[in-house]
Amino acid sequence: MNINFWLNGVNRHAEISPDTLLIDFLRKQGCFQREKEAAKLRTVVFCTVLMDGRPVLSCSTLAARIEGKKIVTLEGMQREAQEFGSFLANEGAEQCGFCNPGFIMNVFAMLNEIKDPTEEQIKEYLAGNLCRCSGFVSQTRSILKFLKYKKAQEEA
Ligand code: FES
Repeated sequence: MNINFWLNGVNRHAEISPDTLLIDFLRKQGCFQREKEAAKLRTVVFCTVLMDGRPVLSCSTLAARIEGKKIVTLEGMQREAQEFGSFLANEGAEQCGFCNPGFIMNVFAMLNEIKDPTEEQIKEYLAGNLCRCSGFVSQTRSILKFLKYKKAQEEA
C-alpha cells in the first residue's frame, strides 16, 4: 500500500506492507532515536513520536496509520530537545538517559495541549513515562523550571 505523510516537516510517500510497525518504518526513513530494544517493553515510552502533535508509541502503531498525518520524531526536535535536556541534566533527572527521548517527546506533546500546566497536570500527563533511575521528582522540577524559563522568554 502507498502512504503519504509528513516526516519532520518534509512531505514523503512510501510503499509499505500493511503490517509494518511504525518503529520499523521510521528506522528505514533514517530515524534511529529509538534503537533500544526495550522500547518494545513499552515501559519507558522510548519509542514515542508525535502524530499530528499527539504522542503515540511507534512500537505498537501500524505505519499505515500515518497516512495524511504529520509525524515528528526526536530528530525533528533537536533544538527543543537540547534546550529542555539541559534542564533535565541540571536537575539531576538525567542518569542513564534511557527514558529521556520519550520523556522529551511527551513534554512537548503536553505543551501542545496544555499551555500552562499545573504540577498536577504534569504528573497526570506524564504518568506513563517511567524512569527507573531518578523517579519523577527531579523530572517534574526540571519541567517547572523549563516552563518558568520559557514564560520569562516570552515576556522579555
Ligand atoms: Fe535512567 Fe530515566 S534516567 S530510566
